[in-house]
Amino acid sequence: MSIRTKFTETFGVEHPIAQGGMQWVGRAELVAAVANAGALGFITALTQPTPADLANEIARTRDLTDKPFGVNLTILPAINPPPYDEYRQVIVDAGIKIVETAGSNPAPHLPMFHDNGIKVLHKCTSVRHAVKAQSLGVDGISIDGFECAGHPGEDDIPGLVLIPAAADKIEIPMIASGGFADARGLVAALALGADGINMGSRFMCTVESCIHQNVKEAIVAGDERGTELIFRSLHNTARVASNTVSREVVEILKQGGQFDDVKDLVAGVRGRRVFDEGDVDAGIWTVGTAMGLINDIPTVSELVSRIVGEAEDLITGRLTGMVAPVAQRV
Ligand SMILES: Cc1cc2nc3c(=O)[nH]c(=O)nc-3n(C[C@H](O)[C@H](O)[C@H](O)COP(=O)(O)O)c2cc1C
Repeated sequence: MSIRTKFTETFGVEHPIAQGGMQWVGRAELVAAVANAGALGFITALTQPTPADLANEIARTRDLTDKPFGVNLTILPAINPPPYDEYRQVIVDAGIKIVETAGSNPAPHLPMFHDNGIKVLHKCTSVRHAVKAQSLGVDGISIDGFECAGHPGEDDIPGLVLIPAAADKIEIPMIASGGFADARGLVAALALGADGINMGSRFMCTVESCIHQNVKEAIVAGDERGTELIFRSLHNTARVASNTVSREVVEILKQGGQFDDVKDLVAGVRGRRVFDEGDVDAGIWTVGTAMGLINDIPTVSELVSRIVGEAEDLITGRLTGMVAPVAQRV
């Protein structure tokens, strides 16, 4: 048995599960493992220091899988923006067929992707942005709720409302993210009107994810309260692991501090040290409230087959068992 949805049909994957872009985490080994497990993995373009490195990473992924995978292109405001056009060109030249856009309006990138037969899955955090992206002609929506790791937007709408509210207005395939980590989440997302799920934190905590073992163990040890929302006052909220650094950032900004006052604390190099060296208090690192549902470090293949198998059992067993003819109800 398998779960077929508009998402699996449109994006040509076996299971309705995606691994969204993850800075420093979305590399060849993880993405290939996700592809080999029949789900949709995305290499994170900007994790690669140059467009040429992205071309190499795509080639490395192809050495590890012959299944479809995509590339995430995150477009965020920056003082010195990366050369987005060059990264986009590499994606096209490499023959990638699926791109996850995130961070801002995908319009400037759509013509080139579509002209080259690339399907665009746009990730956003509000119904209005999902509707806008649909009207621009993207091929799928990934709607990311307040629970999520990374940037949840500023509306603070959790998935229980966000997903069905979006589903009411979205006709193209739509997957849901933010807090999904197991079969119950997948079935709930399908019931709420999504065509699948996107997971970040859960895939981060697998054997093939390239981050330090200490970080994976911290995720397993942590619970659903283990995150902080930083940059709230700067209207660029990010959900990250709660540690000495993120709590200090929250405190400084709460006292009226500005970005300059926290810029050394949030520096990317410090965050890299967390993932590379395993010191979970070295800097800011991203994880979501799904931490409360993550209790092990499985291989990607074990994880995906567990989620899909248990989801099928949940649908055909527990849920179907609840539906009885009126006469039999107590
Ligand atoms: C370590 C980490 C880094 C992330 N970096 C990015 C990124 O660069 N671009 C992006 O679009 N999303 C990024 N995300 C968000 C994920 O793609 C996904 O939307 C999110 O993790 C879903 O929420 P979940 O963690 O509850 O599953 C990141 C998530 C994590 C955990």
